[in-house]
Amino acid sequence: MNKNIKYLAIIISTVLLSCNNSKTEKANNTGKMVAQSDIKKSEGYKLLESKCYICHFKTPDPANINQMIAPPMLRVQEHYKPSYPEKEDFIKAVMAYVNNPSEDKTLMPGAVKKFNLMPKVIYNQNELKLIAETIYNYEFGSAPKVRMQMLRGVQLNNGERWKLKHETIEIVDNIINKLYTFKSDNIADYSQFGKDIFEQAKFIMLDKSYTGTKFEQIHVFFNGAEKDMHSLIEEKSIDNAKKTIEDLKIKFNNFYDFFEVDSPTANNKYSEYRN
Ligand code: HEC
Repeated sequence: MNKNIKYLAIIISTVLLSCNNSKTEKANNTGKMVAQSDIKKSEGYKLLESKCYICHFKTPDPANINQMIAPPMLRVQEHYKPSYPEKEDFIKAVMAYVNNPSEDKTLMPGAVKKFNLMPKVIYNQNELKLIAETIYNYEFGSAPKVRMQMLRGVQLNNGERWKLKHETIEIVDNIINKLYTFKSDNIADYSQFGKDIFEQAKFIMLDKSYTGTKFEQIHVFFNGAEKDMHSLIEEKSIDNAKKTIEDLKIKFNNFYDFFEVDSPTANNKYSEYRN
């Protein structure tokens, strides 16, 4: 609820700001490879600041983690570039998402689960294109990829494994199966394979029935695997891609050390009805 009110306020102020903005700047968008300092002076960057940074931090800011209501733009770039290495495709994908945020399209299921879907706001399409181009070009620098929690890895539930729905376990089994049967000497297949297993993992990461600590632990696990899936999508070398598959096998083999199927309870419920 609170979050919705916050969004509403933000969106209203965006609309007000954009009325001012449209008159002040004329597009200046001819240069191709623009220097970092020039990007910061560009129309696209100003628009990014005024329209997107109200919700998105530029880079992760651990000191203000509680004020975070959307993933930092650096993370958005990190998630979009592997799937859309070409600038034109990147711009299209970012525009498509902003114009119509959806679970189908998301490349950041963790963010969707954590912050809810990005609210749909109608932006001027030319401005949005400049913004998307800026997100592609800008060097946000780097930030540590793992949070402390991830360094520690998945934790058990007071010494017990976390119980998951059998649908979830089926998906994980399916991914493991695929990891062990996948074979190819064509790097394009690895990229597609990375996308395929990411799409499957997304179902789990977006599952609304998991909450609280269980949800966090699921995400700690999948955040690690997600990184591998992304590097698979963008990998250029077969050898590295093969190593990443091996790494994923190891990660997924550990899955059942921390999670197990919740079937006994499900069965009990079922038999209650039958008796
Ligand atoms: C009112 C707050 C808000 C504003 C303003 C906003 N965003 Fe977002 N955005 C979010 C939230 C929350 C998420 C995470 C949930 C999601 O991915 O849908 C997100 C996620 C994204 C993603 C990742 C989508 C994915 O794959 O899940 C992209 C790309 C994005 N925003 C681009 C933009 C751009 C570009 C702008 C400025 C034109 C912008 N956002 C303005 C809240 C906002």
